Amino acid sequence: MLSLLSRTHTPSSSRHSPEDSPTEPTMPTIDHHISHQTRRRRIVVAMTGATGAILGIKALIALRRLNIETHLVMSKWAEATIKYETDYHPSNVKALADHVHNINDMAAPIASGSFKADGMIVVPCSMKTLAAIHSGFCDDLISRTADVMLKERRKLVLVARETPLSDIHLRNMLEVSRAGAIIFPPVPAYYIRAASVDDLVNQSVGRMLDLFDLDTGDFERWEGWQTEK
Ligand SMILES: Cc1cc2nc3c(=O)[nH]c(=O)nc-3n(C[C@H](O)[C@H](O)[C@H](O)COP(=O)(O)O)c2cc1C
Repeated sequence: MLSLLSRTHTPSSSRHSPEDSPTEPTMPTIDHHISHQTRRRRIVVAMTGATGAILGIKALIALRRLNIETHLVMSKWAEATIKYETDYHPSNVKALADHVHNINDMAAPIASGSFKADGMIVVPCSMKTLAAIHSGFCDDLISRTADVMLKERRKLVLVARETPLSDIHLRNMLEVSRAGAIIFPPVPAYYIRAASVDDLVNQSVGRMLDLFDLDTGDFERWEGWQTEK
């Protein structure tokens, strides 16, 4: 059994060859398992040119606070909406992430299934990027990484934003959902009686990160009817 295990763990057994310690049995080393268990969780954050840049920014801030390793990819139109809709400059947003990858860099680690990312969120997700993911047409790093998430059966959350929705949008969402993605339109929950847009954004970001079993602690959860509202 031991020899079988050592054979199946070739990388470790080649590091510690039996010749190094001939009297001791060769135990299969499990370095790669340990590093998987102890490393920080990794989430890919992709921002595209749908309105709602603040959702991506707040998601990055929350992930940073939760000590999640983030890999950020921004489309050209995400940069434009960040500038138009928020007080941030794209460079400030990039500074919130641990790693930033160029959208044209198809050789980035996240473009491969062998890179152990724990999931991906496209926030906000335009109908164009949704369509690219739907068709599997991977001509930029966002659609390629989303494609990798689906083929590797990893978590993929699409914060798809458009209104109203055409048959094409709806079909793409349905089929991408059937392929394993979670469609999370950033629809406000009016029962929180938001006092500000910030409250609505925090609630949306909190609910999207719930999908990764992460609790931002930044919004009120529904606890049944409250008498004092
Ligand atoms: C201010 C602004 C808001 C936009 N909002 C949306 C939107 O909510 N949904 C959408 O699908 N496209 C929206 N677009 C259009 C996209 O930016 C456009 O389709 C772009 O090609 C998307 O490319 P990307 O997915 O590579 O970022 C918006 C564009 C601008 C300038």
